[in-house]
Amino acid sequence: MDLDSPDATSRNNTQAKRLDVSVIVPTYNEAENVPILVGRLQKVLSDYEFEVIVVDDDSPDETWKVAERIAESHHNVRLLHRIDKRGLSSAVFDGMTLAEGQVYVVMDADLQHDEQIIPGLVNPILNGEASITVGSREVENGSYGDFSPSRRLVSWSGSVLARRLLKVNASDPMSGFFAVSSDRFSDVKRRINPRGFKILLEFLARRPRPDVVEVGYEFRSRLHGTTKLTSSIVIAYLLTIVELTIGRVISARFSAYIMVGVVGLVVRVVTTQLFGLLENTSFADQSPISFSHLVTALGIEASVLSNYWGNNVFTFSPFRHKGRDILGGLGRFHLVSAHSIVVSTGVISILSRGTNQDPLFVTWPQVSLTVFAASIIVATLGNYYLNTILTWRTGS
Ligand code: GDD
Ligand code: MN
Repeated sequence: MDLDSPDATSRNNTQAKRLDVSVIVPTYNEAENVPILVGRLQKVLSDYEFEVIVVDDDSPDETWKVAERIAESHHNVRLLHRIDKRGLSSAVFDGMTLAEGQVYVVMDADLQHDEQIIPGLVNPILNGEASITVGSREVENGSYGDFSPSRRLVSWSGSVLARRLLKVNASDPMSGFFAVSSDRFSDVKRRINPRGFKILLEFLARRPRPDVVEVGYEFRSRLHGTTKLTSSIVIAYLLTIVELTIGRVISARFSAYIMVGVVGLVVRVVTTQLFGLLENTSFADQSPISFSHLVTALGIEASVLSNYWGNNVFTFSPFRHKGRDILGGLGRFHLVSAHSIVVSTGVISILSRGTNQDPLFVTWPQVSLTVFAASIIVATLGNYYLNTILTWRTGS
């Protein structure tokens, strides 16, 4: 067959969506659960043309081996074994880029999601009634089961924030159990930031707003293994909300950078105040340089450390330094921060020439707020650029 003929191309396109459903199952240490889940899916989806895509991030319990074995004996089970990446949302995203169904169902591997409602999630999308359907614990027939009160609180606050700030029209936007049409995925995939746990929010919040149908289900408790939801994931979730709220104006990464910087400023002020308390003690008398300069320097160092940590964990998380790389990263980050001190000092001394201040240690209100703000903006933009290309070498 001539592969360049228009006929072959269109055939390839229809082939690309030849299935009704792709079930995407992210896994991390779910070796015991995967075989049970696949068995249940084969039953409940027997009326559909479907595939199951397990996306495993090189789980230490070797879930991928289990999935590989299942894939060998089931033509409709596939494994994406990721060595270089971690993360629930990005696993779901990568699974979707491989999927061949018209509808992508996302569900946890740990049997907490009731597979019986899958037809209810799939049909409204196949019928064209909705482009997203959500398995919800908040509507009729839905419940949180044995979910602990603290987890309920996290879930509840998350949905309130999402509904208020993002005006998302779903009662359970924190759900990890949902379906999305392959068309909706294609429409928004270039704008998605696959961070943290909350990829559903991205599908719900991006414009144009989708038609949503919700289906109630009872959240079951885990049989095997443990949850991976940690506090850093909760923080990442908050960042996602802020980003989706303001991200239309400035880039996601830059807004995270700014937030980390604001926290750094608070750290600096608090550190300065704390050391300032030592002013009239013998500690102050022993200071090799003027005590106020020493306190300023300690405050700056504390904020540099806090900024490095925050940017490493959040802003540049896909490029995060680990182990010994942290030393090199910290070194480069210090150089870049030193650069920002030089730049902001420069800006201040140029703009306030003649005010007779020592520019290294002036802050607002010793110079006008405009001058101070200008110095911060110039230094921040320069720093951001340098950290992107030097400290974390993102290649973009
Ligand atoms: N590939 C991959 N990589 N999979 C992961 C990762 C990861 O880094 N982290 C977690 N998973 C998989 C788990 O193996 C599981 O199949 C699924 O993602 C959900 O993880 P759990 O650790 O079981 O999450 P949970 O039960 O605490 O949270 C659930 O309920 C929340 C509702 O409050 C999830 O459904 C969340 O999405 C949901 O928000
Ligand atoms: Mn779970």
